[in-house]
Amino acid sequence: MRIENKEYRTIWFENNLVKIIDQTKLPHQFRIKELKTVKDSINAIKTMEVRGAPLIGATAAYGLVLSIVEKNDLSFLKKSGEDLIASRPTAINLKWAVDRMMKKLSGVNEKDIFKLALVEAKNIIEEDVNFCKNIGLNGLKIIEEISNKKKDTINILTHCNAGWLATIDWGTATSPIYHAHQKGIKIHVWVDETRPRNQGANLTSYELNEEGIPNTVITDNAGGILMQRGQVDMCIVGTDRTLSNGDVCNKIGTYLKALAAKDNNVPFYVALPSSTIDWNIKDHKQIPIEERNSEELSHVEGIDKNNQVTKVRIYPKKSKSMNLAFDVTPAKLVTGLITEKGICEASEKGLKGLFK
Ligand code: MRU
Repeated sequence: MRIENKEYRTIWFENNLVKIIDQTKLPHQFRIKELKTVKDSINAIKTMEVRGAPLIGATAAYGLVLSIVEKNDLSFLKKSGEDLIASRPTAINLKWAVDRMMKKLSGVNEKDIFKLALVEAKNIIEEDVNFCKNIGLNGLKIIEEISNKKKDTINILTHCNAGWLATIDWGTATSPIYHAHQKGIKIHVWVDETRPRNQGANLTSYELNEEGIPNTVITDNAGGILMQRGQVDMCIVGTDRTLSNGDVCNKIGTYLKALAAKDNNVPFYVALPSSTIDWNIKDHKQIPIEERNSEELSHVEGIDKNNQVTKVRIYPKKSKSMNLAFDVTPAKLVTGLITEKGICEASEKGLKGLFK
């Protein structure tokens, strides 16, 4: 998608280096960063220079390529894979990408391994682009249905950033929005700020602005009253891990939006590529929920009057804080799952119907 009218992807491989858009600097600064080693990749995932389930999966795949460039050695490759998987615990795409790469590379000789690793990492990336595009085309049908009835601007609420910046291109939750916009359907997006890291305000609003899609940033607690006032036609969010029973683990606060949506009869959709489905865990209590540094809560970063990026503390040093990064929305609150293969009920039957 576009930044200042130039087409970008979030990650690419060039001259034996991985290039990323450093998302910790957005929206105030646009910086392309080079990852030279697997350690750089791990660090980029941990510090959220790259974030979003599909993108961290892609970064892990390229991280393994960098590990081969660094040291063509099987035990180093295995250790790199383990460290990449451990770099963030909740999004299943990390493990999915590493497992897929390791399977492909198992038994491959030293001479061919780099070439094969690069091809597979690029396959993962191209596949994600296609999946996200198809999620958009499938989700577009829902928006078109609403548009046929409403004949006015459609208000869509989203949480966090499940946009193209969280994937390689298109995004998951935003892909139906981009496709609808391209078809001339009038859309307005309510963007949840998404404390504490403000992925909504900093990233979703930014990427929608760059594509010319009207949007309004709201506090994380505003969705409820907007739904009560009839100002939300549908919600679309992304996911970091969806269980085979349809339970959806996504950015903290998603669950509360789904409860408000249920209470107000607002359709609540989750958009996901199949790489985000965890077919193994049966109980959501087994999902490792990331708990991040409390400084993300106690401090906010922004731009001051002199255009300088600054960070300030916003509550007493003495106050304790807890920074849970994800929550789980039970399947019963989800209207449907929008996947690359079609839309299904959030249930084992629904998912298995699409992904045999
Ligand atoms: O902590 P983040 O910014 O990596 O969390 C991102 C989300 O929660 C997204 O909704 C999710 O990864 C889906 S991305 C298409």
